[in-house]
Amino acid sequence: MTQFIDTHSHLYDNDFISDLPEVIERAKESKVLRCILPAVDKSCQQSLMDTASGYPGTLFPAAGLHPTSVGENWEEELEFVYETAAAHKYIAIGEIGMDGYWSKDFLSQQAIVFEKQIELAVRLNLPVIIHSREATEEIFKVLERCRQLNVKGVFHAFSGSYETFCRIQKTGNFLVGIGGVVTFKKAALAETVKKIGLENIVLETDAPWLAPAPFRGKRNEPSYIGIIAQKLSELLEKDIDEVAEKTTGNAQRMFNL
Ligand code: NI
Repeated sequence: MTQFIDTHSHLYDNDFISDLPEVIERAKESKVLRCILPAVDKSCQQSLMDTASGYPGTLFPAAGLHPTSVGENWEEELEFVYETAAAHKYIAIGEIGMDGYWSKDFLSQQAIVFEKQIELAVRLNLPVIIHSREATEEIFKVLERCRQLNVKGVFHAFSGSYETFCRIQKTGNFLVGIGGVVTFKKAALAETVKKIGLENIVLETDAPWLAPAPFRGKRNEPSYIGIIAQKLSELLEKDIDEVAEKTTGNAQRMFNL
């Protein structure tokens, strides 16, 4: 049976407060049967857990500290991730990584927090979900330090070059998360995914952000995964069922689903 997994969806965001049951229903009608909910920081974890526990077997929570939430209190936030990860079984550690776009003020702390959370994921035998924005070289420095750890995970919202993808693969067992950006006009990513190939791709929405065309700029939701799959089917000249089967299989293996 054709089914999809949305490997990156912030369904606990305030944007879904009023109609989450309908959003989940539309996802199921669109064959998106499971979604992974990446964490952001302490302030979101309770709503994340409450949301996930309402839909067991459908929504799977992760634990982690997002790089844009690394600030003055980073040590306290990191401690919270350790406590959270010890108290419950999670599907992944994420989203973690580095972000030089929003602010460069805490980049050195972001690197520490990123590395510590990679080590945590390896100890727990969990994959990581990596957020990388305008910090590619800094990310590689950390990943190269961690090379011996056999890190596994997903580069979420991948938009780099094929060369960057090849570098990523040399640092661990990584897949790339492809979402709405691939449907945007003039997206260089469209050419890159042809080289990356289905065997290295998982699908994601990043809902409520990054809605695919023709919904660009509107609220994103998991039922739009089919639009991304359709675009990949055209680009890679594969049947959409094959796109579903391969990307779902990749997600199942990576996240032990
Ligand atoms: Ni995200």
